[in-house]
Amino acid sequence: LPLPEEAGASLDLNPASQRTSILEGKTTSTFAYRSNILGPTIRAFRGEMLIASVQNALSEPTNVHWHGLKVPANMDGNPVDIVKAGESFQYSFPIDQRAGTHWYHPHPHGATARQVHTGLAGMLIINDDEELALGLPAGYFEVPLIIQDKRLKAGKLVYDPSMMETMAGYFGQTITVNGVVSPFHEVQGRWYRFRILNGSTARVYNLALSPNLGMKIIGSDGGLLGAPEDVNEVLLGPGERLDVLVDFSAEPVGSEVYLESKKFNGGSSQGAESFKIMKFIIGASSGDTFQPPGSLSVIDKIPENQATKVRNFEINRMGMMGSGAMHTFNGKSYKRGRVDETVKAGATEIWEFDNAGDEIHPIHIHAVQFQILSRTGGRNGIIPSEKGWKDTVLIFPKEKVRLIMTFPDTPGGFVFHCHNLEHEDDGMMLNFEIV
Ligand code: C2O
Ligand code: CU
Ligand code: CU
Repeated sequence: LPLPEEAGASLDLNPASQRTSILEGKTTSTFAYRSNILGPTIRAFRGEMLIASVQNALSEPTNVHWHGLKVPANMDGNPVDIVKAGESFQYSFPIDQRAGTHWYHPHPHGATARQVHTGLAGMLIINDDEELALGLPAGYFEVPLIIQDKRLKAGKLVYDPSMMETMAGYFGQTITVNGVVSPFHEVQGRWYRFRILNGSTARVYNLALSPNLGMKIIGSDGGLLGAPEDVNEVLLGPGERLDVLVDFSAEPVGSEVYLESKKFNGGSSQGAESFKIMKFIIGASSGDTFQPPGSLSVIDKIPENQATKVRNFEINRMGMMGSGAMHTFNGKSYKRGRVDETVKAGATEIWEFDNAGDEIHPIHIHAVQFQILSRTGGRNGIIPSEKGWKDTVLIFPKEKVRLIMTFPDTPGGFVFHCHNLEHEDDGMMLNFEIV
């Protein structure tokens, strides 16, 4: 189950189309960074340079966005910065942020969902001294889990959304973890650290363990929380990450534990059923002496009165099914080259997103990590995984969410968008320019 791991100092991520036999034992064609569906897990230490060369062997344009990373605008994989078929580009930037679990994926407008579903994505882990000093489970006991729903037809991976699905979201019936169908992992009776990424295009999971072991959330999108949060279930939307500790030591040897998604109240299209995601098979206890730390880090709250501007974004759905762009922010949908919002370099701002519709929207902002000030309507309130730094936030029907963030102090153009990748490709994305 574990994916190959690679140091970020210098690597190649050459997107190509290939034949693979991972899916249901049959051969299918997928996209791949190098030779595997899903690229290597990149690991970099704060302060290092990350250098990744991309030689595009696909027959279509692509690029690489470093989701969660603070990088210069020209390295961010903006939809306007494309690597054409046959061409190459070298991404290179310093890792200048705290430890955290991030990911990389393509961002060519209109093709992002298909390219991610077809296999282009990978995890990117940043480590730093603060995190290492906690002595969290590592090596075999630190396992990345990339959860994705795929559509398979006769063993072939297909991305064939209907008109309706290009509007609402594409839901695959086969749940994969790390690109594997029917995933399982053998574990010892001890503490594990799981870094979980929802790399699905549209599906939200309500993660839980069965039997109910519970989990300790230690981090989310932007790294460690202040203190571990004990939960029995936790929502994870497309693009979001979770860092959790799980204790298998009380489980009988040979027994099975399932990671599953439980039912939740998710509006028109999500949460109606519960289903299994993967299986853990419990092995012998290893005499582990690890004890989860009581505190992890310090999250300094950005004071609201530091904000110099408040922006409001109303999430709308325009027009009839099948009449083109449907999902908008304040009535606008994505247009290449148009500047929708201008932000002062280094400014602290509050952005409010108001979802009047009946769909879930995971909203993602490039270039920053934000804090969630409040959620009103719908679920009301903030969930435990939202107490730290975030770059993607789930907005359920009838919810209004207020975010506070400080923008980079270097100029450049970035995007923000819905991370339901069908919504994004449908135009639910705008440009902001830091000046
Ligand atoms: Cu993970 Cu702009 O996206
Ligand atoms: Cu991003
Ligand atoms: Cu959306």
